[in-house]
Amino acid sequence: MDMKQKLEEMLAAAKAAVTEVADEAALQEIRVRYLGKKGQLTTIMKGMGALSSDERPTIGALANRVKEQLGQLFDQHLQRVKQQELSRRLEHESIDVTLPGRRGVSGSKHPVTLITEELIDIFSALGFCVAEGPEVEQDFYNFEALNIPRDHPARDMQDTFYINDDVVLRTHTSPVQIRTMLKHRPPLRIIAPGTVYRRDSDITHSPMFHQIEGFMVDENITFGDLKGILTTFIHECFGTKVAVRFRPSFFPFTEPSAEVDIQCVICGGKGCRVCKNSGWLEILGSGMIDPEVFKSVEYDSSKYSGFAFGMGLERIAMLKYGVNDLRLFFENDVRFLRQF
Ligand code: DAH
Repeated sequence: MDMKQKLEEMLAAAKAAVTEVADEAALQEIRVRYLGKKGQLTTIMKGMGALSSDERPTIGALANRVKEQLGQLFDQHLQRVKQQELSRRLEHESIDVTLPGRRGVSGSKHPVTLITEELIDIFSALGFCVAEGPEVEQDFYNFEALNIPRDHPARDMQDTFYINDDVVLRTHTSPVQIRTMLKHRPPLRIIAPGTVYRRDSDITHSPMFHQIEGFMVDENITFGDLKGILTTFIHECFGTKVAVRFRPSFFPFTEPSAEVDIQCVICGGKGCRVCKNSGWLEILGSGMIDPEVFKSVEYDSSKYSGFAFGMGLERIAMLKYGVNDLRLFFENDVRFLRQF
């Protein structure tokens, strides 16, 4: 058989072999058989040396063409085989897009967030707007303008985190009163929820906790307004059956001042460990805004009056949800948090 014939037969045989092939591995095997280093093409080409010099160029050209055609042949079938494998896989792995998806794990709101939102709702309904201030606060807003002078015990290093002589981590949300009154004119009805800091840490104290401040300033605001608003708030928050008591107290920024107690929500007023057998629980501080405070924001206290109040949100949350350890709010144990 001459070389030309051998080459043509080889090409025909290769064509026949690949048409049946169904997977990539088998195709690869055939490719090696024909085009590999020890493959049929190489073997045939070894006979080139025996050709006469006028045959050699034609056979050489034919061999190149056959090699090229084999290459194309395998590439074509590689495409086909890959396509077939893909279709087989897709058919096999078909996805039912009508199946319900996997549910993501959803968290729940922190109880302090829940209480904050609830109080905002209650006070919004009474016409109050939310204001905010910075947690890193200047001495002026946190103390000075609130009539807390330099030598006041509240400024003690024991209680306050100082950044430097003039800057502190705010110890209460009351500085928002000053910031708001400096920016706006009466009538004002504001609540200011936020994080506050004190150097204090035990079962009932955390160095970081939350407060909500509130105040109302206008002409002719009286202690009666204070009582009315705060009683309404307590009834909304703890139920209308809860008894409320206003007890004289002192704060540098209010005069007169009152602390507000509610009937113990644990024992109903009979006396228990939580209320220390008094039947009452203190929940907030309040009072008529001191004329000294109005002076520092340049409000005319012969024209305007107002009341202010402030309370700890963790304490409200503890009473409302029956939580007996303050630290639970900050540990963020999901078993605790999931219950709200
Ligand atoms: N700022 C006080 C505190 O942190 C709470 C407070 C008491 C706020 C009386 C007031 C108020 O606005 O009138 O303990």
